[in-house]
Amino acid sequence: MLFGRVKPLDAILATAEKKSLHRSLGAFQLTMLGIGAVIGTGIFVLTSEAAQKAGPGMMISFIIAGFVCAVAALCYSELASMVPVAGSAYTYSYAVVGEMLAWMVGWALILEYALGASAVAVGWSGYFTGLLAHLNSFVPFLPDIVTPQWLAVGPSQGGFINLPAVVISLLVTWLLIIGTSESAKVTSILVAIKIAALTMFILISLPMMHKANFTPFMPTGFSGVAGAAASIFFAYVGFDAVSTAAEETKNPQRNVPIGLIGSLAVCTIFYLLVAAGAIGSPLGAQPVVDAAGHVLDPGTPELAARCSAIVGGGLTEPLTCSKEALAHVLRVFGWPIAGNLVAIAAIIALPSVVLMMMYGQTRVFFVMARDGLLPKAFAKVHPRFHTPHIVTLVTGLFCTFFSAFAPVGQLANYSNSGTLFAFAMVAIAVLVLRMKDPSRRRPFRTPLIWVVAPLAVIGSVYLYASLDWGSILVLPGWGAIGLLVYFLYSRSRSFVGRGIFDDGEAEEAARVLH
Ligand code: ALA
Repeated sequence: MLFGRVKPLDAILATAEKKSLHRSLGAFQLTMLGIGAVIGTGIFVLTSEAAQKAGPGMMISFIIAGFVCAVAALCYSELASMVPVAGSAYTYSYAVVGEMLAWMVGWALILEYALGASAVAVGWSGYFTGLLAHLNSFVPFLPDIVTPQWLAVGPSQGGFINLPAVVISLLVTWLLIIGTSESAKVTSILVAIKIAALTMFILISLPMMHKANFTPFMPTGFSGVAGAAASIFFAYVGFDAVSTAAEETKNPQRNVPIGLIGSLAVCTIFYLLVAAGAIGSPLGAQPVVDAAGHVLDPGTPELAARCSAIVGGGLTEPLTCSKEALAHVLRVFGWPIAGNLVAIAAIIALPSVVLMMMYGQTRVFFVMARDGLLPKAFAKVHPRFHTPHIVTLVTGLFCTFFSAFAPVGQLANYSNSGTLFAFAMVAIAVLVLRMKDPSRRRPFRTPLIWVVAPLAVIGSVYLYASLDWGSILVLPGWGAIGLLVYFLYSRSRSFVGRGIFDDGEAEEAARVLH
């Protein structure tokens, strides 16, 4: 039954062949593309959440999360090179494990992309309001502007609505509707800005590191480290931009793995050095505890209240309370201008991560609609902008709503639960396809597949199980709603279910999707 409705690979590839792309990307460009998609709110903001969960042990968390991503990335690439069409994990699953599981993957990708975009928007907001509050130290003739709490954060943080996050989400939605796509040139400039900011952070913080801050190294034990790995996993999400560029890559067998592993390796090294610099700052990275000495959970009203009490008492804001961790560390080190520069880099570069994630979401919705599983209006294309405007608007409003009211760490964790499900499914799909269709051409073959794919599944399940309970439950809860929609709406409308493998709009779709 699970495997009942499979969209034949050849039908998918026939659609893809209508828009064969020029193979122009090399290993270096792919690595840049990966770094551009990956570095974002994870390192700039969630470092403080990871510290709250694991203390200095978050360095191990970065390694664990990076490893799981690397093995999953290798599996993604094999399918991406074989099925080089839009829709990512959803499309691969449709071809291999059938419609219902593909639907579940697509449904989980909504968590990954849409809530991921919301998380990055909230992360952006922390840096934006932080910079406004330090404006005077940067531009002497401008006053510091303190955003009122009720407009700066959502209800669980003691506010009402996160207005800057709303504004940036709407702005990105509008850019996507009018058809903005990032050129290779803009991507490389943004990558350079992000790398420059992180390098500056490392160069300032490492020489001044207080080594004593590394003890106790794991104040919350290994479970804290695993919990932080499950959250900080968000910092690596986005590398599938490299897998999906496989069809535009010269010599994909060589360049795709270099691009994937290269970008993940570069990011891991940066993340470890940045984490070390943050831990070694005068702030340290020990978790904030309540009056009874219990470590408080990130994103909770209790932690927010404790942080306000600490700052209200005249003490410096701890790292784990900061919404602009890296800028805060540099200011505490006595480098306010450098802190503001890092904030500006985040403010300039993070919107492109929001854009990429929202774009990913619109592609998945679009392909699902094209397959008949979502309303046809989702696959409508604007006559002038040539973009799927309806689906973009729906996605944008969804992201805006969550960015307005939810805290960044929670959104990232929810996003991770969806991503980890998709990772596990892709790893399983690669194995199934190796058995079902061993002789099909694979422009890129995952090395040591029988080791790498099981590791990706085990690693994804392990990280998923290490999330907080709320995030663990989001996946089955969201999945149950998904199944309801599938059986009440999508199943009977599916083109594949009705024996239609190309609805006649493939060409237009292909044009929009690329
Ligand atoms: N990896 C991306 C980020 O950290 C999603 O913002």
